[in-house]
Amino acid sequence: MLPGNGGPLIRVTRLSKHYSNGQGVIPVLRGVNLEVRPGEMVAVMGPSGSGKSTLLFILGLLMPASSGNYQFMGQDMLALSRAAQAEFRRRQVGFVFQNCDLFENSTVYENLEFPLVYAKVERQDRPERIAAALQRVDLAHRIHHQANHLSGGEKQRVAIARALVNEPLVILADEPTGHLDRTHGHMVMDHFSQIVAAGDTALIVVTHDPQVAARCSRIFSLEDGILNEN
Ligand SMILES: Nc1ncnc2c1ncn2[C@@H]1O[C@H](COP(=O)(O)OP(=O)(O)OP(=O)(O)O)[C@@H](O)[C@H]1O
Ligand SMILES: [Mg+2]
Repeated sequence: MLPGNGGPLIRVTRLSKHYSNGQGVIPVLRGVNLEVRPGEMVAVMGPSGSGKSTLLFILGLLMPASSGNYQFMGQDMLALSRAAQAEFRRRQVGFVFQNCDLFENSTVYENLEFPLVYAKVERQDRPERIAAALQRVDLAHRIHHQANHLSGGEKQRVAIARALVNEPLVILADEPTGHLDRTHGHMVMDHFSQIVAAGDTALIVVTHDPQVAARCSRIFSLEDGILNEN
């Protein structure tokens, strides 16, 4: 199901988030507005600690917002049951975490198989999809390596392949090129561009790298809890 009449995939309005700890309340997002259409590549930049990862976590339903609205394909995401939230994460979202978060004692293959198992992809269909996803990040030769034997950049590329293996509708990528050399950084961005150009997938990429941002159709800055388009 895709939004009819060219409507946005994501529509966020007045989204706020504060963290509470022993010392009190830490406001992070103070009324973020964002619309992303299918097939768009959007960059989010901003200083360290400005709330970029927090925003991606909320969009991926990995963390609740404090207030505001979030619609995905016209559906109110903040009102979903826990089961429906899990279903959304399984089927629609490809998340590239800032710190990769691989299962370190598992192989590359097993790391990519996990989201497919979770999404109930048949066993016999998994090897081909895993091999294709690894091919795209130039890591086919590491398929049976254990994750903790990979270099930092290789881990990052596995994390990217893992986010894409499910063919999600939105890719939420948190500094996906932070550990990569220029060649592999470009390769990853080429790959994202192809996926986005080929279908209805949208990409929201958090980055500190102006070259990565320049590959996106729109660039936003998150500062003082507000998101502004550059
Ligand atoms: N669980 C938490 N409890 C309390 N404060 C938190 C929590 N998680 C994040 N924060 C604070 O919220 C702010 C935003 O954090 P976030 O990780 O979203 O920033 P960021 O923009 O992704 O930064 P970076 O560029 O360094 O990755 C930071 O000041 C951080 O210390
Ligand atoms: Mg971050």
